Amino acid sequence: MSAPVLVGKDLARHYAVRRGLFKPDAVVRALNGVSFELHSGKTLAVVGESGCGKSTLARLVTMIEDPSAGELLIDGKPARVGDSSLRAEVQIVFQNPYGSLNPRQKVGTILEEPLKINTSDDAATRRRKAEEMMAKVGLRPEHYDRYPHMFSGGQRQRIAIARALMLKPKVLVLDEPVSALDLSIQAQVLNLLMDLQKEMGLAYLFISHGLSVVRHIADEVMVMYLGKPVETGTADEVFNHPRHPYTAALLSATPIADPERAKNRIRLQGELPSPLNPPPGCPFNPRCWKATEECRKAMPPLEGPAEHQFACLHPLD
Ligand SMILES: Nc1ncnc2c1ncn2[C@@H]1O[C@H](COP(=O)(O)OP(=O)(O)OP(=O)(O)O)[C@@H](O)[C@H]1O
Ligand SMILES: [Mg+2]
Repeated sequence: MSAPVLVGKDLARHYAVRRGLFKPDAVVRALNGVSFELHSGKTLAVVGESGCGKSTLARLVTMIEDPSAGELLIDGKPARVGDSSLRAEVQIVFQNPYGSLNPRQKVGTILEEPLKINTSDDAATRRRKAEEMMAKVGLRPEHYDRYPHMFSGGQRQRIAIARALMLKPKVLVLDEPVSALDLSIQAQVLNLLMDLQKEMGLAYLFISHGLSVVRHIADEVMVMYLGKPVETGTADEVFNHPRHPYTAALLSATPIADPERAKNRIRLQGELPSPLNPPPGCPFNPRCWKATEECRKAMPPLEGPAEHQFACLHPLD
């Protein structure tokens, strides 16, 4: 296999937060010990509940922030904030297509802006490239002169995807790209993403709250809990043989049509703990039905062969 386009080695990101005038500052470990390799044409899904560190990981990978520890390699080269030579290689599409497009710019202007800033293309070349990209993402030529508010949510997300692809990146970070869209539109946008991936050989880091959204698009899955990966592996392994109770609970939370299986649904008990004050041991232990005294003592390491690793003392069969 070719060299990976994106490598994370034991990435961490910690934030100091002020707790008040007379209290010492605290540290939020938003991300801890995250490692992965992403190859061209493949999708790594990063899944977990709110606050588990998904967007923090996205900010590291897009070089908006540097990691507090660990290393990020883009195309084999160490990536740092401000390193403009790698900037174009990783682009991002956000969840909210309403907030991410400038309402005062026409679609053509939005798509040509990255070219204007990063290339020496003349106006005619920029226009041709924008029109080609519009066709690729399923927008019509007459959309070139329209404003974002004239489009539906799904079409706006097509515009955001087109903009992200204008500089021909190798990696696209998709931070919940379909979560704000109707179910029927979600499938259309996911299909478009899969077509574009095949055509352009793109690598996707696909961030999602739930597992069901990424079922058909993911090649590999990383399940995160409170800033740490708790299970990683091929989509086939993680979906069909989940070993970590948290993964099983996430899978169980997806809508099930079969009433027999729905009866055996696992319900996640309790609140997600605060990352400012994580429980000792495995962070999932207060909500885990398999937890024992051992689980409250130390966080087990992520172990197993590359195709399936999990961090649990009492894995499921
Ligand atoms: N700049 C910051 N300063 C302090 N804490 C932060 C900062 N950015 C993120 N955090 C904290 O780090 C943790 C992870 O946040 P992050 O936004 O990465 O989560 P997420 O998985 O993207 O959540 P969501 O699903 O809600 O988007 C949260 O507890 C958050 O409050
Ligand atoms: Mg987020």
